[in-house]
Amino acid sequence: MSKLKTMSMEWTGDSLILVDQRYLPLEETYISCKNYKEVATAIKDMVVRGAPAIGASAAFGYVLGVKEFLNDFNKMKEVKKTLADTRPTAVNLFWALDRMERKFLEIKDDKNLIDLIEKEALKIAYEDIEANRAMGKFGGELLNDGDTVLTHCNAGALATVDYGTALGVIRGARELGKDIKVYADETRPYLQGARLTVWELYKDGFDVTLISDNMAGWVMKQGKINAVIVGADRIASNGDVANKIGTYSVAVLAKKHGIPFYVAAPLSTIDLNTPTGNEIPIEERSHKEVRFCHKSKMVPEEIKVYNPAFDVTPNELITAIITEKGVVKPPYSENLKKLFEK
Ligand code: MRU
Repeated sequence: MSKLKTMSMEWTGDSLILVDQRYLPLEETYISCKNYKEVATAIKDMVVRGAPAIGASAAFGYVLGVKEFLNDFNKMKEVKKTLADTRPTAVNLFWALDRMERKFLEIKDDKNLIDLIEKEALKIAYEDIEANRAMGKFGGELLNDGDTVLTHCNAGALATVDYGTALGVIRGARELGKDIKVYADETRPYLQGARLTVWELYKDGFDVTLISDNMAGWVMKQGKINAVIVGADRIASNGDVANKIGTYSVAVLAKKHGIPFYVAAPLSTIDLNTPTGNEIPIEERSHKEVRFCHKSKMVPEEIKVYNPAFDVTPNELITAIITEKGVVKPPYSENLKKLFEK
């Protein structure tokens, strides 16, 4: 019997079953991870992606490590490192692993070690769902009935344990009785917008329109967009936001057109130890993601390719950050800190 089952993941107690996001929406297949190494590979290979989903998956990977090595701390340090070395930008990964390690050290000699460590991972997962629903309520208030929202990448149920951050806000607005339409950037090169966001929203009955990334400016110019909402992989202490490559361009365009630009993210995405966006490590991924368009090779091998997977949107372009503890407005350096004091 599963102890957690959502669109993005299922925890059975012995394995983490992940919907394989590399093949959605055309194929709905699942991968079962039975040990921590399989979880690490799934994160690295993008079977599971999206900051909160990566964090929760790593927590379950840590549980599988404890099942294998019990209270051997040296082995658990290796487990943590393997899981941490998968993707560098989303801070939720390190946040979840640090939290699991703190719990492990607290309970490592308890005879109920496995049950207690599993309980902590489940807590991380259920707290994520709760946080997303709270963001949905706070963020939903910011939108007006009849608004059309532009989003980038996928910050939905698939990118979290459930419900989503940016898409959670859109869902939250609908739960408040508002009619919200969505434009989704396709999000080259990995196409999370086209493949995942559109699929999720369409299945949920939203009026969703796909555009390619380079259309965003023109769609704004035509007056079709009332607000932009995106997720985040890491928010620095000054409010700079790392998110999927292309987010920065959308923020610049939103500023130019006087459209509010919102970021929705849980506290687990806020990294007060990183002072500004300049210190956020940006993952570079395989040249193949850009060289190929889906399965077709567009560009010969001799052409150089640069493929940063994320960019940083400077805080001055961000109208507000929606969290589970409320909506934060500038000055972010002061106001983000206050969230952790509440
Ligand atoms: O490379 P990905 O698909 O893991 O990147 C995902 C994003 O950039 C999301 O916008 C972010 O993680 C927020 S998900 C709630």
